[in-house]
Amino acid sequence: MAYQMQDDIREVYFTEQQLADKVAELGARITADYRDKNPLVISVLKGSYVFMADLTRKIDTPCNVDFMVVSSYGKGTKTTGEVQIIKDIEQPIDGRDLLIVEDILDSGVTLSYLMQVLTARGARSIRLCTLLSKPSRRKVDVKVDYLGFEIPDEFVVGYGLDYAEKYRNLPYIGILKPHVYGGEE
Ligand code: IMP
Ligand code: MG
Repeated sequence: MAYQMQDDIREVYFTEQQLADKVAELGARITADYRDKNPLVISVLKGSYVFMADLTRKIDTPCNVDFMVVSSYGKGTKTTGEVQIIKDIEQPIDGRDLLIVEDILDSGVTLSYLMQVLTARGARSIRLCTLLSKPSRRKVDVKVDYLGFEIPDEFVVGYGLDYAEKYRNLPYIGILKPHVYGGEE
């Protein structure tokens, strides 16, 4: 058989259906909380692109969307702790209600930095929605307002999340077989 991405996955963590159910639940909560606020929903790329697309379509009240790119891991699986804005949002945010959409909260270094920057620009409120969180990895305290799932300290891929820029297009979330990183099976 020809190679398939699925061959590299050791275990499925969250199926397409589980993800869809959770996204619908988060969308309903956000809809209720942001009615008539016209929030600016900001996706932190690239990891959150799939979640962002699905989540915003479950927000049933007007909102605007924008995108940021901050420096990340490169090819590795552990964070370096350095944060840089590579692509900024394209509008002023003073007086706006912001909802930051992240794929995964790990050390929290990226997010806490981002929240500081956006607060300093005069946002009226900032809340955080993250699909996944690894609480055991936290180095900086970050308040999560909308959480999908807590997971243990394992490197996951799919549904936007990558390993070395691969597997973002898997429709579910799973963990890789160790040989993919060059580890023992
Ligand atoms: P941190 O919270 O500042 O450490 O960084 C979070 C970012 O690290 C996320 O937006 C992801 O891009 C990346 N990341 C952390 N854990 C994983 C994982 O398990 N799989 C894929 N990317 C991850
Ligand atoms: Mg990444």
